[in-house]
Amino acid sequence: KNEGKKIKLIYTIPTGQNPSGATMSIDKRRHLLEIASKYDLLIIEDMAYNYVVLEGSSPPTIKSFDREDRVIPIGTLSKIMGTGFRVGWVVATDLIKKYVVSEKQPIDYCAPAISQYIAIEFLRRGVHKISIERSREVYRIKRDVMIRSIEEKIRGAEFSKPVAGMFLMLRLPNVDGTLFAENLMEKYKVAVLPGKPFYTDDKGRDMIRLNFSRPSIDDIKEAVDKIGVLYRELKS
Ligand SMILES: Cc1ncc(COP(=O)(O)O)c(C=O)c1O
Repeated sequence: KNEGKKIKLIYTIPTGQNPSGATMSIDKRRHLLEIASKYDLLIIEDMAYNYVVLEGSSPPTIKSFDREDRVIPIGTLSKIMGTGFRVGWVVATDLIKKYVVSEKQPIDYCAPAISQYIAIEFLRRGVHKISIERSREVYRIKRDVMIRSIEEKIRGAEFSKPVAGMFLMLRLPNVDGTLFAENLMEKYKVAVLPGKPFYTDDKGRDMIRLNFSRPSIDDIKEAVDKIGVLYRELKS
């Protein structure tokens, strides 16, 4: 704004956000749309984690409140079919679709054909329904194990309980998250992401992002234990 540039678009992941794990309330979804309408902005609603809701039902999408064709929902099969397939989707007007195709084509020509055929069969055979149901259940169990382990093993850590997605952002007061992540990997072979690169300001400096979808329950317990050990080492 200071440079005289006009904002045109808002990008948001309202459900199970990566990296924070946060899910936007219905009031905030409506409010964001009001702001977009007031300032004539488009909203890209990334629905990557909409099918990974761990508690209750999926909140209404921002798109469901949209009467002005402002919201462009996008999604990926990566979180329900498997990572690496690189097949996603977009719901857009013909005009927007034209822009999407002309921007995407020079980047990768198209998603791999083999991935697209697998995706078609995955959906046609209804495997997504089984996958969604199973991952919701398994991830919920893993999330609860992670939370319980943090509460038991890392005194002073701050976090909020994610109701969707596969991430939990952990604040370790008075610790540099980037150094912490490096040390944790080198010393204890536990991989986490530092919070800082996810922020435009300094807010994420004492945070690390944990993932609870991939590791086994035993690995989650062990990893949280190691995070606690390193946190105590650095604090003392
Ligand atoms: C919000 C969000 N959108 C999209 C993706 C990736 O999608 P794809 O694997 O289709 O590139 C991710 C993966 O981490 C994500 O967190």
